[in-house]
Amino acid sequence: MASATNSSLSLMLLVAAAMASVASAQLSATFYDTSCPNALSTIKSVITAAVNSEARMGASLLRLHFHDCFVQGCDASVLLSGQEQNAGPNVGSLRGFSVIDNAKARVEAICNQTVSCADILAVAARDSVVALGGPSWTVLLGRRDSTTASEALANTDLPAPSSSLAELIGNFSRKGLDATDMVALSGAHTIGQAQCQNFRDRIYNETNIDSAFATQRQANCPRPTGSGDSNLAPLDTTTPNAFDNAYYSNLLSNKGLLHSDQVLFNGGSADNTVRNFASNAAAFSSAFTTAMVKMGNISPLTGTQGQIRLSCSKVNS
Ligand code: HEM
Repeated sequence: MASATNSSLSLMLLVAAAMASVASAQLSATFYDTSCPNALSTIKSVITAAVNSEARMGASLLRLHFHDCFVQGCDASVLLSGQEQNAGPNVGSLRGFSVIDNAKARVEAICNQTVSCADILAVAARDSVVALGGPSWTVLLGRRDSTTASEALANTDLPAPSSSLAELIGNFSRKGLDATDMVALSGAHTIGQAQCQNFRDRIYNETNIDSAFATQRQANCPRPTGSGDSNLAPLDTTTPNAFDNAYYSNLLSNKGLLHSDQVLFNGGSADNTVRNFASNAAAFSSAFTTAMVKMGNISPLTGTQGQIRLSCSKVNS
């Protein structure tokens, strides 16, 4: 009797494990090849035009995909109006919604209710990196869109710029990403901007910072809280609009802008990975693209789960 129970339990576990692996196995590079063969080229033209007219948009779209995937998985939940958009790490900070809406409208015009907003966002992130001179990768497709979003999960699951190295490693590991993935994905901070309120404490109070760099950043980020909070500075002080490996060289000279950047090179377990990525651009590109595919595979909705939204900002009525 006990062994019969045990064997049926094992069978159930086996079936559950097989079902869990099927979810990400269902994503495929060729998902729209017959249903919407021009989807990817249409998205690319919208994204390339947007990044050409404002380089920072590439950074904003890459970040949007990250903030989507870390909250309920890559299901476009971040694109639903309100909700996650009101969470601490997102409010007054996330950008690029209108570019995604534009890409969605262009794709809807050629293939009605076929291509998900979650996939458009994953492709937009890749096309953004490429438009800024970074590496390319094959985006797996077939994600579907959520009907819900969670402000509470966005507040707990997105990493804070005040995080320690251990907190960052833990945060990414809960999403199935290892420490190397985490260091490689942080290399996204080779593009884009951050607001004074997110690096004020570092430039006034930390000691592991290049003093000329701190002085330079203090000039546009006043010390008193509430003064100049949203003033911007580039995350990569060297080449802010190029997707390269300069982010890591900056860390070697204590010029990381965020506390969570510099903890990657501060005498801890990530030091060697940072050194490697700083000296070897190909090693960074390879680790970054591998990690982007892994991040894009976080808990997708597939098959008949969720829906294909008609408009990325709201669920279908
Ligand atoms: C390791 C943990 C991370 C932390 C703590 C973090 C935190 C932040 C913060 C605080 C900002 C500035 C937001 C603002 O001031 O408005 C920022 C910007 C940015 N983040 Fe991260 N981030 C992390 C990882 C990532 C990852 C994994 C990616 C993408 C793969 C990413 C992509 C970006 C980009 C591109 C920007 C600039 C966005 C823009 O200019 O609009 N970050 N991040």
